Amino acid sequence: MTHQGAPAQVVIPHAPWFTEDRLGMFVHWGLYSLAARHEWVMNYEQIAVEDYRKYFEHFDPDLYDPREWAAAAKHAGMKYVVLTTKHHDGFVLWDSALTEYKSTNTPCGRDLLTPYVEALREAGLKVGFYHSVIDWHHPDFAIDAVHPERNNPDWRELNKTRTGEAYREYLHGQVRELLSNYGQIDYLFFDFSYPEMSTKTADGEPKFRGKGAKDWGSVELMKTIRELQPGIIVNDRLNVPGDFVTPEQYQPAGAMLSGDKEVPWEACQTLNGSWGYDRDNLDYKAPDQLVRMLIDGVSKGGNLLLNVGPTARGEIDPRAHEALEGIGEWMRLHSRSIYGAGAAGLDAPVDARYTLRGDRLYLHLFAWPFQFIHLPGLADKVRYAQLLNDASEVAMLVLDSDQVAGHMTPAGQAPGTLTLKLPVQRPNVRVPVVELFLNSTALNTHPTTERD
Ligand code: GLC
Repeated sequence: MTHQGAPAQVVIPHAPWFTEDRLGMFVHWGLYSLAARHEWVMNYEQIAVEDYRKYFEHFDPDLYDPREWAAAAKHAGMKYVVLTTKHHDGFVLWDSALTEYKSTNTPCGRDLLTPYVEALREAGLKVGFYHSVIDWHHPDFAIDAVHPERNNPDWRELNKTRTGEAYREYLHGQVRELLSNYGQIDYLFFDFSYPEMSTKTADGEPKFRGKGAKDWGSVELMKTIRELQPGIIVNDRLNVPGDFVTPEQYQPAGAMLSGDKEVPWEACQTLNGSWGYDRDNLDYKAPDQLVRMLIDGVSKGGNLLLNVGPTARGEIDPRAHEALEGIGEWMRLHSRSIYGAGAAGLDAPVDARYTLRGDRLYLHLFAWPFQFIHLPGLADKVRYAQLLNDASEVAMLVLDSDQVAGHMTPAGQAPGTLTLKLPVQRPNVRVPVVELFLNSTALNTHPTTERD
């Protein structure tokens, strides 16, 4: 076990809240929620714009009440919420002056972002927008390898007029609307660039080109964003550096780096593999697993943005509610091992994770050991230990390293090892946590403002 000393927390200088809050709710909601079979349904089933219009004509989320979303997020211990303002299908949830393809022109008949931002602020949650740079509805968005019309035999003809200039202006104009008309926006998640995704025809001729910073006008767009919302944080998917990186649907093995520098990161995860409501998909992650993913990320200095896909009526579905309640029940007792915590710079025992917050070290036990757990390097660093769920004392001992294993006594451990004696009964919580009170100088950690 090496004790490299606690790594400095890498925070976003103009928004330290991000690495303090650690847990957010992602919300994917739009016309694809009616199809109810994944938000990429237009792409997967190569649905033409005119055939996709049936969802526009029937979008009527009569049960939409973002105060319920905010309450569910808050109960789960989530501190910020990120809603899809526009997804790849091009449909927008607000009364944009730049398109007719908007919620106000559907049976819904209203701007959906105003009540959303108001509900979040009322609940004390940070306000996040997701915005797709991809747009399968816009007439100037060139057909490419991810476009629903990619197999349209007339793609070459159709692309002749699609220079992308009008689309770039549209994209910038809508981002300007989002960052000008809804008060302070704390977080912006763009999705996604694919400059490397160029393809060839069967006879090897260049076919589709990928899209990246040039297509979006990303450098200029970032400048506009910073001018309109100086305190906002922006992710890394405009194909230019952002404030944090966004591993998706996997858990990083360690800190996320840009070059050789640690950078702020947030893993975005689904409950069942689909971001949008997917009625027949039963592949839900168990709440225990979701809690372990949260802990795992924080132990490596990262956030978790956990997604729900509300139904086309506007409600979070019962299975998603169950997952959120499971996380909330654990967070009610254990959130202080998550909020403001980060990597400890210690190798944790197998099936365990450490998080560190100031002079408190948290040992998260994914498996409950029988009787003893040995913590190398901590013998002289801990003054008290307790189970976090009920604040019941945990006995600490230091075994002589030369102690031979007896028929009732464990063998000694490497010098400097702290041994905890745990109750046989595992606490009845999703992940038991031991709170270790450190001698103040034990594992110094202090936030830095280094960015990538
Ligand atoms: C991927 C998917 C997109 C989803 C996003 C969330 O980019 O294409 O549908 O919104 O992940 O991060």
